[in-house]
Amino acid sequence: MSEQHGSMIKNPKQLILMVFAAFFVPLIVILLLLIYADSGTKQSSILDSESTLKIIKPVANLNFVDASAPKVLKTGEAVYQSVCASCHSSGAAGAPKFEDKAAWAGRVSKGYAGLLTSVIKGKNAMPARGGASPDDVSDFEIGRAVVYMANAAGGKLSDPKEPEQAKAGK
Ligand code: HEC
Repeated sequence: MSEQHGSMIKNPKQLILMVFAAFFVPLIVILLLLIYADSGTKQSSILDSESTLKIIKPVANLNFVDASAPKVLKTGEAVYQSVCASCHSSGAAGAPKFEDKAAWAGRVSKGYAGLLTSVIKGKNAMPARGGASPDDVSDFEIGRAVVYMANAAGGKLSDPKEPEQAKAGK
């Protein structure tokens, strides 16, 4: 008989109590340890917003591009830097060098339209559009780059007119 062995469990009520205690006491200890371990960091919650952001960043960092947003036109300088400078800053492949008045004088006298045509169609070592895709750089933006480069070398070309479509978007 269990009573004779000095057991603490004497009835079903005590049995249930012991089972609960056996289950919950370690759980509470573990919880307390977790809270203690986490107290070293600034925030007390294990999944605070900062660390959650850090964890989901690789998958949550989506870039939404609004396709209907008005396209921001690149400046002549921006196009020059990204497309044209690779040849024209050094004068590679016989390209008229940036700000080299002597190299540009004869070319600028052709006028804006002639220079633009050379770039759009390509000329000798210069690939059409300086190698840029029409999806990336429009004719108008190439025109701006032509004016930027010609004027940097002493030309006096005026900036091309913005296409109507781009104006409407503003
Ligand atoms: C791969 C090298 C290269 C790139 C990139 C390049 N060019 Fe050129 N460019 C040349 C060369 C070479 C010439 C000289 C062509 C000739 O007259 O034989 C030239 C000539 C020109 C001329 C004078 C054309 C003429 O009719 O005399 C203009 C204007 C010009 N480039 C503008 C640009 C612009 C604007 C860009 C960028 C959108 C650009 N280039 C990108 C190599 C390049």
